Amino acid sequence: MALLKIVKESDDLEFLRRKSAPVKEITPRITTLLDDMIETMRAANGCGLAAVQVGVLRRVVVIETEDGLFELINPVITKKSGEQEGAEGCLSLPGKWGLTKRPACVTVRALDRNGEEFELTGYDLLAKAICHEVDHLDGIIYTDKAIRMLRPEELEMDED
Ligand code: NI
Repeated sequence: MALLKIVKESDDLEFLRRKSAPVKEITPRITTLLDDMIETMRAANGCGLAAVQVGVLRRVVVIETEDGLFELINPVITKKSGEQEGAEGCLSLPGKWGLTKRPACVTVRALDRNGEEFELTGYDLLAKAICHEVDHLDGIIYTDKAIRMLRPEELEMDED
């Protein structure tokens, strides 16, 4: 396993804006990428990471919340319901937080590392993380959707 360099908005915003391509075949390169992304996400204390954030334009996402660790290849959101409003950040935009409105519940369909299709339904933080990471695959950053950016002293309103 290896720690990967996280692409920051300040280094290469143009790269983060690019659209990621679907994974056609799950090769050892993809499973190594998943392992390295998990290690990188944990080292950075994040709860989600998309491959584009480590310089790879493939539709691969890792998420870790209280609900568990999830690896999503070619994720597609199939259902959204409800609404939540709260603070949101991104490992590519360190030190910044925005107030966003996201669905309270999201269902996503994806492939696992064995190429098996599965469905995951997430609530609250997991729902938010799924939306945030899938957006990255289309070059969308949460600040595009933020109602407004938050000042550091406002962060205590939300534990996220
Ligand atoms: Ni992000």
